[in-house]
Amino acid sequence: MNKITSISSLEHDFLVNVFDKTKDIKSNWTNLEQIGLGKTICLIFWEPSTRTKLSFEHAAKKLGFTVLDFSPDQSSIMKGESLEDTLKTLVALKVDGFVIRHPEDQVSKKIANLLPDNVFYINAGDGNHAHPTQAMLDIFTMGEIENDLTKLKITILGDVNHSRVIPSQLALLNKLSCHDVSFMGPKSMISEKFRPLIEDSSANCLTDRNILFVLRIQKERFKENDAVDEIDFVKKFQVNQEFLDRTGFKGHIMHPGPMNIGAEITTDVANSKNSVILSQVENGLYLRAALLSLIS
Ligand code: CP
Repeated sequence: MNKITSISSLEHDFLVNVFDKTKDIKSNWTNLEQIGLGKTICLIFWEPSTRTKLSFEHAAKKLGFTVLDFSPDQSSIMKGESLEDTLKTLVALKVDGFVIRHPEDQVSKKIANLLPDNVFYINAGDGNHAHPTQAMLDIFTMGEIENDLTKLKITILGDVNHSRVIPSQLALLNKLSCHDVSFMGPKSMISEKFRPLIEDSSANCLTDRNILFVLRIQKERFKENDAVDEIDFVKKFQVNQEFLDRTGFKGHIMHPGPMNIGAEITTDVANSKNSVILSQVENGLYLRAALLSLIS
């Protein structure tokens, strides 16, 4: 198995190996085995990224890979070259593996089919469909909070409908038998397939939850008729100190990033001792190194 398109395509044993390898890499970061020496990896990001792109680049270099940073808008794609011909060209240039982010839903399946068997591939986010490595790093981080994931009580707050992280996260939590997940926010952001739903932020409604997973409003993925009342959302659901006091939430705060400070979360909460947002970022580095080690 050397192509990661979505969580649903991954075996339970492989996921356990990824988490074990991530722990191992985290404790040996300064002295990693150079498994990438002689191999070349190409990063192709059609959409902006800070965490995913740079953590893959840093992890790959740390493992000894040569890293090619392909910028679609500076490439022959701008002259009309297709995705298929671009990938064929890069394989001919002796690229051994790809990390690709693309705005098209489910394009990861097409990419995996286009690439030869011996070329590895990791989906770094495709449209609204999937962001498997974000889900893995999030759940690795949850596992540092509570080793027995089945005990976790998670509430996901905000714009679930436009998130590609959440479908991957729910698939992974399900594979790991963590089933106590609820959602919080207005119905306009959270469709009926995501239930149970907490539609208001009333007194003590989050007292029993361990994890509050906060999402920004992902306007870049809005379709023509999508609309949210941002002012009302901020008033009712912004995760600030008053919200935490009112809802009784005392667990850990997570966010996949990037945050829109002052919208879904405030600086003081993002920086508080209960926030593990930067641990998520750091764990992303180790987890992506682990994945590269296992599939390259
Ligand atoms: N969470 C996430 O994918 O962040 P970036 O867009 O910065 O990579």
